[in-house]
Amino acid sequence: MSLELELKNQTISNWNKIKPKKFYIESYGCQMNFADSEVVASIVSKEGYNATKNLNDADLILLNTCSIREKAEQTVRKRLQGFNKLKRHNKNLKVGVLGCMAERLKNKFLDEEKIVDLVVGPDAYKDLPNLIKKINEGRDAVNVILSKEETYGDISPVRLSTNGVTAFVSITRGCDNMCSFCVVPFTRGRERSRDPKSILNEIKLLVEKNYKEVTLLGQNVDSYLWYGGGLKKDFKNITELRKKTSINFSKLLKLVAETFPLLRVRFSTSNPQDMSEDVIKTMSNHKNICNHIHLPVQSGSDNVLKAMNRQHTRKEYINLIKKIKKIIPDCSISQDIITGFPNETDKDHELTLDLMNLVKYDFGYMFKYSERPGTYAAKKYEDNISDLTKKTRLQEIVDLQQKHSNFRTNNYIGKIVEVLIEKESKKSNLQWSGRNQQNTVVVFDKKGFQIGDFVNVLIKNCTSATLIGDAINYSNL
Ligand code: SAH
Ligand code: F3S
Repeated sequence: MSLELELKNQTISNWNKIKPKKFYIESYGCQMNFADSEVVASIVSKEGYNATKNLNDADLILLNTCSIREKAEQTVRKRLQGFNKLKRHNKNLKVGVLGCMAERLKNKFLDEEKIVDLVVGPDAYKDLPNLIKKINEGRDAVNVILSKEETYGDISPVRLSTNGVTAFVSITRGCDNMCSFCVVPFTRGRERSRDPKSILNEIKLLVEKNYKEVTLLGQNVDSYLWYGGGLKKDFKNITELRKKTSINFSKLLKLVAETFPLLRVRFSTSNPQDMSEDVIKTMSNHKNICNHIHLPVQSGSDNVLKAMNRQHTRKEYINLIKKIKKIIPDCSISQDIITGFPNETDKDHELTLDLMNLVKYDFGYMFKYSERPGTYAAKKYEDNISDLTKKTRLQEIVDLQQKHSNFRTNNYIGKIVEVLIEKESKKSNLQWSGRNQQNTVVVFDKKGFQIGDFVNVLIKNCTSATLIGDAINYSNL
């Protein structure tokens, strides 16, 4: 070999040794997964990996997966198949599966999907450095241990694909509710709340970087409870003093809103049985807490709600809505509804439509029931509503929601709403896109405004999902 070639080869080999490795991460499912991916990005970056948005560049591909419905899992499996070709081209490429599918399928994943090298459940991300070392040594690596403590409170998330204006901040992990259809309590474990100090710290860093809005995240934010750490269920055993100094969700909301008066605050998701009047009053007392509540109902029929093990009746839900509208008249409400739950009758379905007509939700997310292995519903009830009936009922629900969304957006015409500018409108680079307090998208001509500005917009026109208007002036949030 010539000296020149030898030197060149040596340089390439040294370069390969010191060349920073790259990771690519893709998230599926709920907002919590997107927030978790930012925690994962922080952990993996410390291991010498740089983030890349290009799959072909990656040494490590991570999929943060969702198990909520069968279709979500199928999407991930298809995506994994697509990586076969990449692996053939790059023998060093490693593929990791994170999130709820990892937790649900555990070691089985490695057998079922040969492409997978790494399986990590939602509470085990801190073990990633050790697991990555293992796979780079050619070993399989699995950690799916659920925790009673882990909240990732001490990790500063790396903001991925950010607009620099809005961010998610998780405040609780897990869920103790055990709705009979839901896989989340099995994949994300017991409910734990995060130390308010670490929540405020994370938000402070965001504010210093000029972020203008945070969404406090949890499967069940209203049951947030900090009394010094530990599971929610152990609260009853602690001292009276600790009980007195504990912080519940309304206190946390107040704390965030008052510490950062120029920051918009949102939260998601609320469970009807846990939403207190204090939370509603705190919202109404603070201009910077957005007037929007995502309040999944799942069904309008008491029989179905009971079989779903939801902890509220139709009447209690309606009363809660009445209370919200009384305290905050312009509060928007959105829903999640499942159609075709086992034994759901035509009458039950009618009750759901009837409830929708009563509430007239601003928007919503509607799903066909999907049986999830291991859940109470899967064990106890037969998935006995035909796909055709599920489809027909879903279409009726979606059509009705469309009608109500139209009704809601039309009501804004002629009114002025406060909008935080987040990005350029998809349809025109001459227009900005943002959201009003009620979480409806608003588009308008850019004029001299910038991303991150709060502006007052006069609404002139709308579709069922978007308000179209004219920016008048800055808003003084
Ligand atoms: N509390 C959570 C709920 C997560 S699941 C939150 O933060 O939003 C989101 C929605 O998915 C649920 O409200 C429910 O409407 C739907 N869903 C959950 N399990 C389902 C299943 N097995 N089949 C169909 N839809 C389901
Ligand atoms: Fe699932 Fe019910 Fe919790 S929908 S996430 S078990 S509140």
